[in-house]
Amino acid sequence: MTDRPVHLSGGGVSILLAPSPLGVPTLLHWGADVGAPTMDDLAAYLELRRPGVPHSALDLPRHLSVLPDNGSGFTGTPAVEGRRPEPDPTRPWAPRFLSWSWETDDDSAVLTSADDEAGLAVRWELGVTEEGLVRVRSTLTNNGPTSYAVDALRATLPVPAEATELLDLTGRWTRERTPQRHPWPQGTWTRSGRHGRTGHDATLLLVAGTPGFGFRRGSVWGIHVGWSGDHESYAERTPEGECLLGGGELLGPGEVVLDPGESYAAPWLVGSFADAGLDGMADRLHRWTRRHSPRSRRTRPVVVNTWEAVYFDHDLDRLSALADVAAEVGAERFVLDDGWFRGRRHDRAGLGDWTVDPEVWPAGLGPLVDHVRSRGMEFGLWVEPEMVNEDSDLARDHPEWLLRGRGARRDSWRFQQVLDLQHPDAYDHVRSALLALLEEHDIAFLKWDHNRDLVDVAHGGRPAVHGQTLAFYRLLDELRESHPSIEIESCASGGGRIDLGVLGRTDRVWPSDTMDPLLRVGIQRWTTLLVPPELVGAHVGGPVAHTTGRVSPLGFRAAVALLNHFGIEWDLTRASPGERAEVARWVALHKQLRHLVAEGTMVRPDHPDPAVTVTGMVAQDRTEAVYVVAVTDSPATQTPAVVLLEGLAEELRYRVEPVRPSETAHVAHLDTPWTAGGPVVTSGALLARVGVRLPPTSPESAYVLVVSCVDGEGRQR
Ligand code: GLA
Repeated sequence: MTDRPVHLSGGGVSILLAPSPLGVPTLLHWGADVGAPTMDDLAAYLELRRPGVPHSALDLPRHLSVLPDNGSGFTGTPAVEGRRPEPDPTRPWAPRFLSWSWETDDDSAVLTSADDEAGLAVRWELGVTEEGLVRVRSTLTNNGPTSYAVDALRATLPVPAEATELLDLTGRWTRERTPQRHPWPQGTWTRSGRHGRTGHDATLLLVAGTPGFGFRRGSVWGIHVGWSGDHESYAERTPEGECLLGGGELLGPGEVVLDPGESYAAPWLVGSFADAGLDGMADRLHRWTRRHSPRSRRTRPVVVNTWEAVYFDHDLDRLSALADVAAEVGAERFVLDDGWFRGRRHDRAGLGDWTVDPEVWPAGLGPLVDHVRSRGMEFGLWVEPEMVNEDSDLARDHPEWLLRGRGARRDSWRFQQVLDLQHPDAYDHVRSALLALLEEHDIAFLKWDHNRDLVDVAHGGRPAVHGQTLAFYRLLDELRESHPSIEIESCASGGGRIDLGVLGRTDRVWPSDTMDPLLRVGIQRWTTLLVPPELVGAHVGGPVAHTTGRVSPLGFRAAVALLNHFGIEWDLTRASPGERAEVARWVALHKQLRHLVAEGTMVRPDHPDPAVTVTGMVAQDRTEAVYVVAVTDSPATQTPAVVLLEGLAEELRYRVEPVRPSETAHVAHLDTPWTAGGPVVTSGALLARVGVRLPPTSPESAYVLVVSCVDGEGRQR
């Protein structure tokens, strides 16, 4: 136990923990760096923050502890909730952690505490990363003589009262990551996901900010729950004056029951603060994820995926022809999507039988893999290991391996059921099947899908999502161990499983099943609030979007995909020679710029016209950058407002060049002299602060501006 304050810092962010007379410490500050205050400064400062005893309240000063609890008078959501199945009058139901000890260093604190009366102990960990992220989680141990059912174990981070606005994301299949903005009044705003997977509606980040915050302005505090199962994030403002963000796993009744001596570790809650808008908040997350994503540091190969090109119509000749055109336009990875395994002629059969279909592939996948490899591309394969069609040998042979909540009724979803990964034989079966595929074929990449929610699922009479999620993580970890270089994509009918839990084990996400570029502009913009852009798959679809029926020009489709992990998902064998040449030019442009996507800082200048979306990637040393200006609707004014090329170094001079692999993405005759003629050399301050004017334009236009630093004579540096 210590009565001294603790200052932790990293990456320009400070955390102040202060002792509390009521028990475990208070988190007094999460936000701007406060430098290196001396212990005397800190102790004196605590006096300035000493709370009083309010009227009509407990006769105690109010302290919001790092484990908020009802016993200290906190009227919001408690950090720990649980119960003993048999009520014990000698034990309190509400834990209070009064005495504690901790170990701290410059950037982390570990606090341990026990409530002997309740028979519970907690270990609370907080770390500040070099990027300035805050990671916090608790582990609860049952020290009592009887079992203890954990109902919730939440982590919280307080934010200042000046954060009066909230932003979170929602969505659905093919429309993931739709932002919601609202004032933050008193009460609790909770975003919960009970999909048995992260969910298309998962908020990714719940953000509180100062009034009017945007991508480049305002102070923002965002949290993320790093977990791929049921979870909640909430923002709470109490009448007593506390403001906090919190979250954790959502546990079903009796889902986690601790026998005496057992522990439950909650998922990490990750917090990101920035004092200049959402871009700064996202940048910390991008840099941290990049540091923990070793395989994605390789150059991101341009992908051709077969799904929207052929669907289930698998045929060696047809796919070999597609591979030829893929190589011709410059693709580097060819991904064979759904439809290759036994009985999988449509989506009603086959899932679970993970061997190559002998009728469609009489000589196995070998000839296609060899063909793809001979064209200089990597081979990738689609799998959906956690799923089973009722029409499959697996389901027929082992009905007991399917997850279910009750005996008779099992509702299918896309005609599929879920394999119970907590069943040891089912787990071994699918693990062996995946290992056999990886042994037999030269596979560089797995697209790992999960095309249904888990509803009413139980294992051993208890809700099964917690155990299923851990088993899924274990399966990924074990495959990784035996095949360390294989890259894996997290897909779940598009963006249904995107979170830092799965991203710790995978190398990219599929953000949506829609390739409609008008929808993609928003989906990618908001997915990259959490995920670095090069880990977000973006494919150029065919002229007609399969999910919406909308027709879009190739130039617009490609420009929208340019600043992510670029790919093509379109039957290029049916594209005209002109279209293929155009695709090849976009592939070449992406290759020229992809180092900026993979290593640069993402900037999203706020634009006054909602019809205009600006996305940029700026090199860390700010000597080069690329901006894509996408016009998604009819602009509000005849001449659109100027675009600020933010993120550039104001003291440097730059050459700005509009590039146009397509003529179809904009209305060429409306060019202004510079967009027609370019490039122009001018100062970074003018570009970033005063901006450039684009020509009058129409919906589904896009401009790509390539920016590079020049020396005093105007030569490229
Ligand atoms: C999901 C994925 C798609 C495709 C299909 C295959 O919907 O999101 O990209 O792989 O499954 O069935």
